[in-house]
Amino acid sequence: MNANFDFNKRNVLVFGGTSGINLGIAEAYAKCGARVGVVGRNPEKAEAARQAVAAHGGDAFCYSADVRDFEAVSAVHKTFVKDAGGSIDVLVSGAAGNFPAPALGMSPNGFKSVVDIDLMGTFHVLRAGFEHLTQPGASIINVSAPQASIAMPLQSHVCAAKAGVDMITRTLAIEWGPMGIRVNSVVPGPIDGTEGMARLAPTQKMRDAVEKAVPLQRMGTPADVADVCLFLASDAARYVTGVILPADGGAVAAGSAGMGMSSMGH
Ligand code: COA
Repeated sequence: MNANFDFNKRNVLVFGGTSGINLGIAEAYAKCGARVGVVGRNPEKAEAARQAVAAHGGDAFCYSADVRDFEAVSAVHKTFVKDAGGSIDVLVSGAAGNFPAPALGMSPNGFKSVVDIDLMGTFHVLRAGFEHLTQPGASIINVSAPQASIAMPLQSHVCAAKAGVDMITRTLAIEWGPMGIRVNSVVPGPIDGTEGMARLAPTQKMRDAVEKAVPLQRMGTPADVADVCLFLASDAARYVTGVILPADGGAVAAGSAGMGMSSMGH
């Protein structure tokens, strides 16, 4: 194994890690030897994810909390550092909410729900996590989205929230850099088999349009994103902070217009 990607004895906590891309990220760290905690809203899903992560060897823990609840997030951090027996080396903030709807079909509470999960949730996870991070040496990865930089119809709430997430990445990279904490965003493109993709491209016609819009001509896999997260948290990225790094087959570079149109049903 490349020594840079050896996460043996490292403690990794993944918020939103109970399914989809984030579970793939949690499993990738476990495969590289890490002690991993996964956090989700649903306790049964969290336990199933813990078992999936543990199957790769090493200790795995699960917790249930809603990232909209700062006290609940704080409690997870405190319990994880006790369970893992040390500070957090890698913190992944990946919990997200989404539903396709035009701004005129969305109540203020609908918009706020997504902002609360994606943007406030990221702040909660990082703010509560700070005191438990390994200093120096911790790496934070915020899971962003193409919507942060590409305006998409039916996604005003996610576009606004994820743009905010990327600015949290940049500002905290500056504020926490002197403490030896790196903060980066990973930007998953259209990833096959995820709840998000099922919501945004529910028909085969839409899936075909998405694939055509991606320069590499295919949807991604959770492993495509997880490998980038391994890099970002590894010693190979020791001088990388404040970066917004797409793992998207070139979708963001292409403007991903096809994806936006397909979610309108064209
Ligand atoms: N169109 C318009 N508004 C919608 C909607 C839709 N498809 N789905 C939910 N909303 C609105 C609700 O009407 C409600 O607003 P209201 O109180 O004014 O009626 C508001 O959003 C909150 O809905 P609720 O179901 O009570 O929220 P929740 O906290 O249980 O769920 C969501 C949060 C809405 C983000 C939900 O989609 C969710 O739980 N998502 C998590 C999973 C997910 O999104 N995965 C994909 C990740 S990319």
